[in-house]
Amino acid sequence: STHRIAVIAGDGIGKEVMPEGLRVLRAAAARFGLQLEFTTFAWANCDYYREHGQMMPADWFDQLKGFDAIYFGAVGWPDAVPDHISLWGSLIKFRREFDQYVNLRPVRLMPGVPCPLAGKKPGDIDFYVVRENTEGEYSAVGGRLFEHTERELVLQEAVFTRKGVDRILQFAFELARSRPKKHLTSATKSNGIAISMPYWDERVKAMAAHYPDVRWDQYHVDILAARFVLSPERFDVVVASNLFGDILSDLGPACAGTIGIAPSANLNPERTLPSLFEPVHGSAPDIYGQNIANPVAMVWSGAMMLDFLGKGDARYVQAHDAIMHAIETVLVQGPRTPDMGGTASTTEMGMAIAALL
Ligand code: NAI
Ligand code: MG
Repeated sequence: STHRIAVIAGDGIGKEVMPEGLRVLRAAAARFGLQLEFTTFAWANCDYYREHGQMMPADWFDQLKGFDAIYFGAVGWPDAVPDHISLWGSLIKFRREFDQYVNLRPVRLMPGVPCPLAGKKPGDIDFYVVRENTEGEYSAVGGRLFEHTERELVLQEAVFTRKGVDRILQFAFELARSRPKKHLTSATKSNGIAISMPYWDERVKAMAAHYPDVRWDQYHVDILAARFVLSPERFDVVVASNLFGDILSDLGPACAGTIGIAPSANLNPERTLPSLFEPVHGSAPDIYGQNIANPVAMVWSGAMMLDFLGKGDARYVQAHDAIMHAIETVLVQGPRTPDMGGTASTTEMGMAIAALL
């Protein structure tokens, strides 16, 4: 059956790495006989905002809801549009309205990538950060009182629902169960955030009872961050609330090398609405226009998309594995973009990956 994919390049280097992501996906589809149908959308970017005063047309939800997935570049152009407007007007709307409650980020030290942590080699760092993506600390509940006076008061609530907490924990335990180490770590801070985090811990304990085959532990997020840097090899699946997961899922990929290769998935595991696949990095205004952005994060995000769409279908698994193998080969042999010490262009690196397929 045909998979329909909405393509949104966004801003900055999103527009440069997207063609390479599509080039590789088309090559994989041709080789493994996948039916992928791409539809490009020219909104959810800051140029559209400048013309229309909003990031997306009013009917964006209806235009996108029927797609199987959204393949997304990066959004944001801070010189023209404040980041809270561009991100909350597009990406964050997708995550919330499409109920993409899992933000999944692999943290893997790839061959050929210099590791910022001393003495680590490929295989030492290989885990997932599972971030809750729809509630928690990132709530819209709160407000300001007595503005611009000495009594000024600002309040923002964190929201933890039983449904919201349990579903992210269930996803994380299932993921841990599917992996050889079968190990889960929960990020908490119940010593300081003494209402919501003890609740989170309680739900972890209750969920763990359903997964006797998964070993689990928990750490306060501060020491957990230190352990990411000091002993990343001990992690397998790390589950965290929205804010803690945001921080850990940037720290993790940073421990495993350049931001230019880190991918992510925003999943609606029930598949009632489209999931979204995007690089971890943003629009990188500082390098935009030179065709030197590393396309690997975009390509790897495409591999994650195939893995999700295929639901275990052998052709999709093969396509995913072949893309990952091609990425590894190019990371080792080159051509490489300047962020990896090379001189190749975005296009050259993308073409080299596609050629291996
Ligand atoms: P950024 O990720 O765009 O850039 C950070 C640094 O990493 C820059 O020096 C950049 O040149 C470099 N970099 C990023 N991707 C790279 C790649 N593929 N190859 C080589 N180098 C790369 O983060 P920054 O500068 O904080 O944000 C820029 C804009 O992007 C802002 O508007 C921000 O809100 C937005 N942003 C959007 C995200 C998204 O769409 N998911 C995520 C993060 C930021
Ligand atoms: Mg972040």
